[in-house]
Amino acid sequence: MASYNGTPIMEMRGIVKEFPGVLALSNLSFDVYKGECHCLVGENGAGKSTLMKILSGAYTPTSGTITLDGKDYKQLTPMQSKNLGIEIVYQENDLVPTMNAIENVFVGKEITKFGGFVDFEAEREKVYALMERYGIEIDPLQTIEHMSVSDQQFVKILKALMNESRILIMDEPTSMFNVEDAGKVLRLVENITAAGISVVYISHFLKEVIQIADRITVIRDGSVINTYDNAGRDMDLTVITRDMVGRPVEVFYQKDKCEIGDIMFEVKDLKLTRDSPSVSFGVRRGEILGLSGMVGSGRTELVRAISGADPRHSGDMYLNGKKLTIRSPRDGIDAGIAHITEDRQRLGLNLGASLLENTLIVGLQQKDKIPDGPLYNCNAYADQVEKIVDKLHIKTPSLQQVVLNLSGGNQQKVVLGKWLFAERSVYIFDEPTRGIDVNAKAEFYKEMTALTRAGNCIIMVSSDLPEMISMSDRVLVVRDGGIHCELASEDINEQTIIKEALGVG
Ligand SMILES: Nc1ncnc2c1ncn2[C@@H]1O[C@H](COP(=O)(O)OP(=O)(O)OP(=O)(O)O)[C@@H](O)[C@H]1O
Ligand SMILES: [Mg+2]
Repeated sequence: MASYNGTPIMEMRGIVKEFPGVLALSNLSFDVYKGECHCLVGENGAGKSTLMKILSGAYTPTSGTITLDGKDYKQLTPMQSKNLGIEIVYQENDLVPTMNAIENVFVGKEITKFGGFVDFEAEREKVYALMERYGIEIDPLQTIEHMSVSDQQFVKILKALMNESRILIMDEPTSMFNVEDAGKVLRLVENITAAGISVVYISHFLKEVIQIADRITVIRDGSVINTYDNAGRDMDLTVITRDMVGRPVEVFYQKDKCEIGDIMFEVKDLKLTRDSPSVSFGVRRGEILGLSGMVGSGRTELVRAISGADPRHSGDMYLNGKKLTIRSPRDGIDAGIAHITEDRQRLGLNLGASLLENTLIVGLQQKDKIPDGPLYNCNAYADQVEKIVDKLHIKTPSLQQVVLNLSGGNQQKVVLGKWLFAERSVYIFDEPTRGIDVNAKAEFYKEMTALTRAGNCIIMVSSDLPEMISMSDRVLVVRDGGIHCELASEDINEQTIIKEALGVG
């Protein structure tokens, strides 16, 4: 546990950051004590990442002061920040995919031996020693491209620790993780702070936050609303969400009932490869079908084959009894399937284009939606897009804003908005609310219910068990690429899902 006597090791005071048309931070102060875990929470677009990018030297503040080691800085360069012991682990992948973990940790600062050759032995020893010290369990000889997303995240953390950091910033480190791996990160944070290194931890998983936080600072619209000292596991989450949003919000969402009709969408004898299990199931009109299972169980692979994102070995899909021709993602869309993929930043957006263009891109390729042919005028659809922006609470100065300049969570909302505009009949959501704040989550769940009410059906893959339980009408548990069992009504609960997914008991 950190001690708050004496002075903080880092202090930011009166920080202001303006972007064209956006006041991202207004007169914000934030400090860090030695060895503490200081969590930063707030709605999408509140300014969390911007504040940390100023500390890591990626952004220049409009005004304000950063104090480190008793010295005041008006701004930091990335190099200065590193030299002062500040390391940031971003969500985006900056590792070299073809190199192994050890090579990645030392890339650009290799240990050399006589003759200028890389001293791989020495590097290996250092990496193993660090892993041992902080309890990190990965295979450092594995190449990055063959590692799971969570192991890659551990490599990034190793790399930061190797630089002898004093303050380690983690911006949503677990947003792509399953529960088990997220637990590993939390234990790692404890080990890091126990060694006297301070951690600034940004997350939308508030349950995680109260497990590791020494202090929690809530920011809203670029200002600090509250800092809670000695924030513990018994802290009331509704207090935090109220600060985040500015009014009380429900942490848990209960789905409204919706009438469920006949089978609308069917998957028959789907096989991904010759030797993989054969999968068949149907989804009813108005139904939300949850696909649950451990990460790596094959849920994502199944839905990717269904929508045409990946090829399949055999099997067919039917919509309202009509066999669909699906050989590509384009076919899937034309057949009426909207597939919101897991990795939204990489697969879902044209980051250099505007919010308006990104929202229209799929919908306007549908022949039924473009009366004016390929020469459509984006602005003609501004009103419709504006409605979607309001519904999903997308925080943006205008529809013309380039998506790259939106906050992480708001970028994800644009992907959701794009598929709402496209108006398909079968919606496949893969981890729909990762990185999305509590308030926007509740809004998005309402949208899902509205989609089912309008006579569509939804297939939802999610590792968020509360989400799976409150939103699904029926759950299929996927194991080893096949459907292990089906759960309905009371059987849709945490214990049963975990038991079936793991195959224990
Ligand atoms: N490079 C930029 N250009 C213009 N505006 C920006 C830029 N970076 C951030 N912003 C704006 O600053 C505000 C704060 O964004 P920031 O990324 O800090 O939010 P966040 O709290 O990290 O949100 P999230 O939870 O969605 O990641 C947002 O309104 C965002 O659109
Ligand atoms: Mg962010």
